[in-house]
Amino acid sequence: MTLTEEIIEVLVVKPRNRVKAYGEVFTPRHMVDRMLDLVRAELEAAPNFVDKTFLEPAAGDGNFLVAILHRKLRALTVHYPPEAWPTESLFALASIYGVELLEDNHADARNAMLEEFESFHAGHEIPCDLSTDLMRAATFLVETNIVRGNMLSGFLVDEDGSEAGQALITFSWWNRVDGKPGMVQRETFTLESLRKQAQGREDLFDLFNVGQENPYLSCPIDQVHKETTR
Ligand SMILES: C[S@@+](CC[C@H](N)C(=O)[O-])C[C@H]1O[C@@H](n2cnc3c(N)ncnc32)[C@H](O)[C@@H]1O
Repeated sequence: MTLTEEIIEVLVVKPRNRVKAYGEVFTPRHMVDRMLDLVRAELEAAPNFVDKTFLEPAAGDGNFLVAILHRKLRALTVHYPPEAWPTESLFALASIYGVELLEDNHADARNAMLEEFESFHAGHEIPCDLSTDLMRAATFLVETNIVRGNMLSGFLVDEDGSEAGQALITFSWWNRVDGKPGMVQRETFTLESLRKQAQGREDLFDLFNVGQENPYLSCPIDQVHKETTR
């Protein structure tokens, strides 16, 4: 096999195998944009648009997640004064969730979200690198919200690609605290509980914390990475 053939094999055949095994075909950006245009009002203008939640069940490289974040951040600059942008940008990030099975796509999705977040702040001359709480909180939110898992089984996928740990995919609500601007209250729940709710089986809505005291204390959203618990 020539070098050219080897390169073609890497570029074409391997992805082709993955297309077959995992349906790995990414939606081009112009189509992502056209689809998001259909929910523009909800995403960019409705009351509480910052907190409208989105879950991408097959996140790929994060193309939808990033486009959603981009629109929310752009809308922030229209609806909020500049001093609110750091806090509101974190709430925007906290509202976006994803599940992805494959390690490289999962890493790409997380990285793309953080690059989008960083670039928004850099563009407005707001300090946002890993020495800042802003970026540390953003990193924590992305790592918590965008999980490597199998959407079909509902289990997390381990580093070795297996589901041997049988750990349920778990997300967190990042609820605003009434009367305390900028404060967040974390509340965990399982993907399974979301499914039951979607099926109208609200009686079975088994919030992870039901019957237990919520272990998380409320905190300013830019401190969320410190995971203050009781
Ligand atoms: C058709 S691509 C779509 C990616 C992205 N949503 C888009 O529209 O561009 C499907 C993605 O889902 C992932 N995937 C396949 N099976 C999955 C599963 N059971 N759970 C989570 N992700 C899965 C694949 O690795 C791939 O990245």
